[in-house]
Amino acid sequence: MRHSFGGPWTRKKLEVLEKYLKFYSTALRNKSFTLHYVDAFAGTGSQDPKEIEFQEQMLPSEDFQGSVRIALDVNPGFHQYHFNDLNPEYITPLKQIREEYPHKTIHITQKDANIFVPEFCNTLSSTDRAVLFLDPYNTELDWRTLQHVTKSQKVDLWLLFPISVIARMTPRDGAKIRPEWEKTLTRLLGTGDWKDALYKPKQKPPTGDLFNSTDPDDATERLNIQELEEWVTKRLKQSFNYVAKPLMLYNNNRPLFLFYFAVSNPNEKAWRLADKVVQDILKKQH
Ligand SMILES: C[S@@+](CC[C@H](N)C(=O)[O-])C[C@H]1O[C@@H](n2cnc3c(N)ncnc32)[C@H](O)[C@@H]1O
Repeated sequence: MRHSFGGPWTRKKLEVLEKYLKFYSTALRNKSFTLHYVDAFAGTGSQDPKEIEFQEQMLPSEDFQGSVRIALDVNPGFHQYHFNDLNPEYITPLKQIREEYPHKTIHITQKDANIFVPEFCNTLSSTDRAVLFLDPYNTELDWRTLQHVTKSQKVDLWLLFPISVIARMTPRDGAKIRPEWEKTLTRLLGTGDWKDALYKPKQKPPTGDLFNSTDPDDATERLNIQELEEWVTKRLKQSFNYVAKPLMLYNNNRPLFLFYFAVSNPNEKAWRLADKVVQDILKKQH
C-alpha cells in the first residue's frame, strides 16, 4: 500500500533526516549505547507521487521512500526501530517492510503518537539513546508530548511544526478566533498565552494618513511568520537544552512547516557535536 502526502518539501525534510541518521548512527555505533530510531507518525514507508498535491513540481515517474525505509537503509544503522502510526491500514504495509529486514529489530505499534511517545520515553534506561522523528500531517501533536521527550534526556528530536496552520487559525487583524481552533492551538502550543503573545499592537500609519484614522488605538495584529517562528523557537528553548534554527519548508514560496532539531540531553558535549553537524546539514538545504 502506498501512502500519499506532502510535496517537494517532503523530499527536503527526508534528506535532512537521512543525513542526520547517518551521522548519528556512525558517531554512536561504537559507544556502549543501544541506539533507537523512533518514528511516531511513521506512514507506510513509501509514497505515491501521482497522488501528491502539488505533484506538478515533481518528476512524473518519480517515486521515493518514506521515513521508515530511509531509516532502515541508513548505515551503519540502529539497534532497534520503532514504527508507530495511528492508521490501522498502515500497519500491514509496515509489517511487510519488517519482513524485508529480518536481521533488524523492528517494533510496530498502532497508537496515538501522544500516547506512544511518552510510553517509549519511559522505557529508556541510561544505556539507551534515541532519535525521534515527529512528522504529523497537521496539528495532531500535543505540546505535552514534547515535555516527555525533554524529560527523557536521551532523545534527539526532529519535529515538523505546522507554522502555516497557526497563521491560518489566527486571524491577522485580531478578529475573534473560532472557538474550536482555540482548543487546538492551546494543545499544539502548550499554553493559552498565545492569545496575547501572538498579537502585537498594530503599526500606526504615518501621521497624515487619513484613511486609517478610524482605527481604535488598541487595535492589534497577528505576528508575521518570522515573528511566529521566533515565538515557537523560544517556547521550544524553554524545554530543550538545544534547539537549532529551524528549516522553513515552503510550497510555492509560501511557508508551510518549520523543521526543528532539538536535543534533550543536558550534556553540553552531546549537543555541541550535534549542533555542528546539524548546522552543516541545514546550510546545504537553504
Ligand atoms: C506526514 S505522514 C508521515 C509520513 C512518514 N513520516 C514518511 O516520511 O513516510 C503523517 C502520518 O501520521 C499518521 N497519524 C495521524 N495522526 C496520528 C496520531 N495522532 N498518532 C500517530 N499517527 C498519526 C497518519 O496516519 C500518517 O501516516
